[in-house]
Amino acid sequence: MTKLVKFRVMGVFRQRIVLATTLSVFFGVLTFLPAAAGPGQPADAAASSMPLTILAMAQAAEFPDPHGLLNANSNGCLSCHDTHDAPGPALLATATEKEACYRCHDGSGATANIRAAFGESILGESTQRSYHPLPHALDGYSVTCGDCHTPHQARSEFTKLLRINDGSGGWVYSPTDTPIGNTYCYRCHGTDSPFPAPFGDQTTFEGGVHQVLGGDPPSGSGIQCVNCHDGHGSAYPGLSQQEATCFTCHNTATPNTNPDLPFDTTELEYAFTAVANDYDATDADGLIRIYHHPIGDDEQDGGSRRVECASCHNAHRVDRDYSGTGSKISNPGDTRGDVAITWTDGTFTRGTISQFCVACHQDPATTAPINAGTWVPYDIRLTDDSAVLNGSGGPHDTFDATYYFTNERSDHGAGAQLACTACHDPHGSSNAYMLRENVISPGGAGVPAGTVGPRVTGFVDEDTPEQQTILSGFCGSCHGDHHTPNRLCTQCHNHGSPRF
Ligand code: HEC
Ligand code: HEC
Ligand code: HEC
Ligand code: HEC
Ligand code: HEC
Ligand code: HEC
Ligand code: HEC
Ligand code: HEC
Ligand code: HEC
Ligand code: HEC
Ligand code: HEC
Repeated sequence: MTKLVKFRVMGVFRQRIVLATTLSVFFGVLTFLPAAAGPGQPADAAASSMPLTILAMAQAAEFPDPHGLLNANSNGCLSCHDTHDAPGPALLATATEKEACYRCHDGSGATANIRAAFGESILGESTQRSYHPLPHALDGYSVTCGDCHTPHQARSEFTKLLRINDGSGGWVYSPTDTPIGNTYCYRCHGTDSPFPAPFGDQTTFEGGVHQVLGGDPPSGSGIQCVNCHDGHGSAYPGLSQQEATCFTCHNTATPNTNPDLPFDTTELEYAFTAVANDYDATDADGLIRIYHHPIGDDEQDGGSRRVECASCHNAHRVDRDYSGTGSKISNPGDTRGDVAITWTDGTFTRGTISQFCVACHQDPATTAPINAGTWVPYDIRLTDDSAVLNGSGGPHDTFDATYYFTNERSDHGAGAQLACTACHDPHGSSNAYMLRENVISPGGAGVPAGTVGPRVTGFVDEDTPEQQTILSGFCGSCHGDHHTPNRLCTQCHNHGSPRF
């Protein structure tokens, strides 16, 4: 079916373009143009008029609010309209609608600097990393302020003046007493979304924990999406500053992950900041230490090491529990897929979580296991550090998935089938190699299953008596009885050696 659709492109306010694709069927529903003026101009004769000459000089705090408080005869209409002849449509005093809004929303006449949020200091361009396509079209789509906000209604009645096309020429508003919430975003990002993946249908969000327990944003709009996404533009990809956004809520979770286990709780954020990373093998200590997964920009070494929260979690889908239908983690190679985790005992014999880890950690030579794509938000990059020596004198990188899972001399892997998370924290730790601070014995090596070992902290991987004791304590959480050769255990037992 071919439909006549309304469509915006850069520099042109209103163009009618015939789209001969099936997208246009959707587009018939989602018309990003104001099909009618906002209904019911409230008449407020008391509102003051604002000559434009004053506009330019007004300070934000003193500026009168033009929204919805003007009557039909008020000069306040002139903040956006001209009376007779006007350069823009709808008698707008500016060539485009957004420019009418930027008259004040560039920081000069209103508190929020929306022009800066879109990064549009030069009209038609953006300095932001991601933005709703208002500065210019993206993938052939664009939006303008009026697609998302009404200029005419009263702020006291409609949350953030939000409105959205109802698909048949009218508007859906968001009244302050009954805000429309996520439905707002679904008008464009719902099941009828015309946008190419991954921008289109986001309704899988409904099934995840963030929909159920994420709570509403402080603005009162009820749009949970804005807990993580900016409505306008962002200095980060995907309208979201990953970890900082996540940490606004996740700062009290357990780092030695899984809140259901009997560990003392500290902060998840702490897990990622426990010890500064040291990636410089040429500095005074000559070591590379990675105590947490390098999610921070400053930890990513120009992109040669790279992983993000979104590489391991699909924030739209994550669940609180592992079940037939949900998971805390997603497939790093296709984040639409949940990673099913099955527990074969109450502690750490979970083969499937090991499969998750080796999606990235294959062997020392594999440095680019996964490239960004439609369903992979970021490139995943590792470095081959096998030329760097670790504290026990051996090569730093020795882990090899094939060896771990299949070699009969791989006692923790092929033998005991331990989950990687029996020994490693998936986020971070104050111990080198992200070795867990709290170890639970799965049994089988001398210490009864379920025993929680003493807390282990401060392992920096140096061959000193103090460090030998710390590491021996770590191994001893599971190995009740073991020899103590006054060397680091990892000198002889490590991922690259037999009997580990
Ligand atoms: C904050 C800017 C702003 C102010 C102030 C404003 N308008 Fe508008 N007006 C717009 C925009 C933008 C449009 C384009 C249609 C839309 O987005 O609803 C518009 C559209 C209209 C239309 C309909 C034109 C059409 O094509 O549908 C009328 C009529 C109108 N305005 C009258 C007024 C009157 C009268 C006032 C003063 C009481 C006023 N406006 C104040 C921004 C404003
Ligand atoms: C004459 C100056 C002026 C113009 C032009 C103007 N605004 Fe505003 N706008 C304000 C002021 C003042 C406020 C009050 C809040 C503030 O200071 O940020 C405001 C608030 C808003 C809000 C936030 C409401 C809230 O509750 O926080 C939205 C949304 C908004 N304007 C959209 C628009 C849009 C869309 C346009 C263009 C069609 C526009 N404005 C044009 C001055 C203006
Ligand atoms: C794709 C939809 C969309 C577009 C396009 C859009 N906005 Fe917004 N705007 C939003 C959302 C969503 C919010 C925040 C709601 C919340 O915080 O709950 C918002 C908030 C605002 C606010 C309140 C202050 C703030 O930053 O939270 C102002 C003012 C505003 N917008 C003005 C504008 C102007 C001016 C334009 C055009 C230059 C524009 N918006 C374009 C969706 C949009
Ligand atoms: C808990 C945080 C969170 C919430 C809540 C959330 N998102 Fe997301 N969303 C993300 C993250 C993280 C990504 C991955 C994108 C990235 O970082 O590049 C993403 C991706 C997206 C994308 C694809 C963008 C891209 O560049 O890959 C869209 C579109 C989107 N979200 C819309 C929504 C909508 C609509 C809602 C509400 C129904 C919502 N999100 C709720 C965190 C969230
Ligand atoms: C009026 C339609 C419209 C509304 C409403 C809307 N969006 Fe969008 N959104 C778009 C368009 C168009 C794109 C760009 C699609 C493309 O590039 O193909 C987009 C892109 C995005 C992206 C990806 C940005 C990027 O560069 O990676 C995110 C995230 C997003 N929207 C979130 C939201 C959220 C959250 C809401 C609700 C607050 C929302 N959108 C409301 C039209 C809309
Ligand atoms: C607005 C608050 C909020 C934000 C922002 C937020 N979350 Fe959540 N998240 C929650 C709540 C509440 C839960 C469920 C309660 C719990 O388990 O702590 C949850 C649960 C989760 C879970 C499920 C695991 C579990 O045991 O609960 C994961 C994984 C998760 N969030 C990751 C993220 C990531 C990644 C981000 C950033 C992209 C993020 N969250 C941003 C509030 C938030
Ligand atoms: C390298 C992959 C990876 C990265 C990166 C990652 N996580 Fe996780 N995360 C996991 C795994 C695996 C689990 C589940 C552990 C388990 O069940 O034993 C988990 C569990 C969680 C949980 C559940 C609560 C808990 O502590 O068990 C939350 C919340 C969470 N992650 C948030 C985040 C946030 C926020 C980020 C980014 C700041 C992040 N994760 C980065 C792998 C990762
Ligand atoms: C999405 C990809 C990804 C997943 C999944 C992942 N990691 Fe990582 N991991 C990385 C990256 C990137 C680094 C940075 C180290 C590098 O550059 O070699 C890293 C570093 C590490 C390190 C420190 C390595 C060193 O050289 O000191 C350990 C230990 C580790 N991960 C264990 C795990 C475990 C255990 C899991 C599963 C719970 C896991 N990882 C899941 C990407 C991933
Ligand atoms: C029995 C505890 C234990 C288990 C189980 C375990 N590791 Fe390790 N891992 C260690 C120790 C100890 C080190 C540091 C010593 C060494 O091997 O150099 C380490 C180091 C690493 C390193 C960084 C150094 C290197 O050799 O590459 C990576 C990556 C790694 N482990 C990944 C994994 C993955 C992935 C799994 C699961 C498939 C896993 N580990 C299972 C204890 C364990
Ligand atoms: C989470 C518990 C756990 C931790 C921590 C752990 N191991 Fe093990 N280890 C096991 C299990 C279970 C086996 C399999 C025992 C068996 O086959 O009888 C095993 C097997 C071994 C074996 C082979 C035993 C044999 O009989 O040949 C060696 C050697 C070993 N571990 C060394 C270490 C060292 C060194 C550390 C510390 C770096 C360590 N382990 C940490 C659980 C653990
Ligand atoms: C100098 C090398 C070396 C160091 C250092 C070392 N081991 Fe061993 N370990 C061995 C050898 C060799 C065996 C016998 C392996 C075999 O049976 O093939 C062994 C065997 C084991 C076994 C199997 C049961 C046993 O006692 O025979 C465990 C458990 C073990 N080591 C744990 C540790 C722990 C924990 C540390 C650190 C406190 C450690 N090892 C340090 C060389 C070493």
